Amino acid sequence: MTRYQVSRRHIVGTFALLFASSALIWGCKTAGGPAGTEIPVGEFASLTGGTATFGQSVHNGDVLAIDEINAAGGVLGKKINLLTEDDQSKTEEAVASVQKLVNSDHVVALLGEVASSRSMAGAPIAQLSHAPMITPASTNEDVTKKGDYIFRICFIDPFQGQTMARFALNSLGKKRAAVLTDVKQDYSVGLDEAFKHTYSTSGGAIVSEQSYSTGDKDFHAPLTSIRATNPDVIFVPGYYTEVALIVRQARELGIDCPILGGDGWDSPELTKGAEKEFNNTFFSNHFATEDPDSTVQNFVKKYEDRYHSMPDAMAALGYDAARILVDAMKRAGSTDSAALRKAIAETKDFPGVTGHITIDPNRNASKPITIIKITEGKFHFAQRIGPEGEALTPFQP
Ligand code: PHE
Repeated sequence: MTRYQVSRRHIVGTFALLFASSALIWGCKTAGGPAGTEIPVGEFASLTGGTATFGQSVHNGDVLAIDEINAAGGVLGKKINLLTEDDQSKTEEAVASVQKLVNSDHVVALLGEVASSRSMAGAPIAQLSHAPMITPASTNEDVTKKGDYIFRICFIDPFQGQTMARFALNSLGKKRAAVLTDVKQDYSVGLDEAFKHTYSTSGGAIVSEQSYSTGDKDFHAPLTSIRATNPDVIFVPGYYTEVALIVRQARELGIDCPILGGDGWDSPELTKGAEKEFNNTFFSNHFATEDPDSTVQNFVKKYEDRYHSMPDAMAALGYDAARILVDAMKRAGSTDSAALRKAIAETKDFPGVTGHITIDPNRNASKPITIIKITEGKFHFAQRIGPEGEALTPFQP
């Protein structure tokens, strides 16, 4: 079992949820062993707060991978000791978490964060201390520009926004789009820009641009403005907590056109109690549990056996990120920061659950993207698109 600790500094009421999903691991929590017998790896994640399912899922994926690695003997003759900090879905806590992991716990590398704004907040500290950081899931283009120690194993938002713009135009045949953006999230703003650029230069018209802020609950004003322009598709590049309310309120206002989004929609919380309202919605993602690929199906089975729930994209990305980090340690033959940084940069064709992963010269990953169609609250595989925008499977309407 993983030598594994979660900082309790900030863990509050919603801890019960985490406990439920990680009871097995929590039961095995132990203090770190004697110095030098373990490799300390830091994880900063939103285990509580507005995007809690992101942090909990990525954590489950990280732990699953690290337990497997430790059970198979660890790496470089040592076990991995995963040290986890809950940043409560807050940017300033992401900074404090990375500071603690780097300065007090002396981790050799960092896994995190999911949300782009929080990865961008933590990255300068990782860069300054030369602690290689791999974000499993932050898609905003600027994240890896923070320095040469900052990597990601997911695709980036220009690709995600472009894919959804083309999907709206070509697969759905919708030529008039409205956008509704969360101005408090770098992720949402970047995705919005990518979507608008491709859509309007590929034959579509953006008829309305509205915004909101993380934490908002009433979206009637922007939605009423959107309705007045009579769009035939709406793009909402937000996170699931707000998107759940936006789609529900849009349908209440009689807006029945397709609503599209990005990976920030991926949560078991998204459609709860609004299964009907979410019909005719689509989002781009990293992974689909229905994918018949055997790597995917093996992972889904292992995850279900352990956590008694289906993995979402963050869980799969967390699993891939932790395995890529350990693979790099193996190839580097050391946890020395410069050697580890170099080995991560040289990751080539790693057979991940979320696709084959090669780190490019900008420390990003070039990978396919999956489009999910939501029907009666269930996520179904609709199409896979390759990194050059090519359809790898036909669209399944
Ligand atoms: N891509 C989002 C971001 O950068 C985070 C995310 C990843 C959310 C994967 C859900 C699934 O902020």
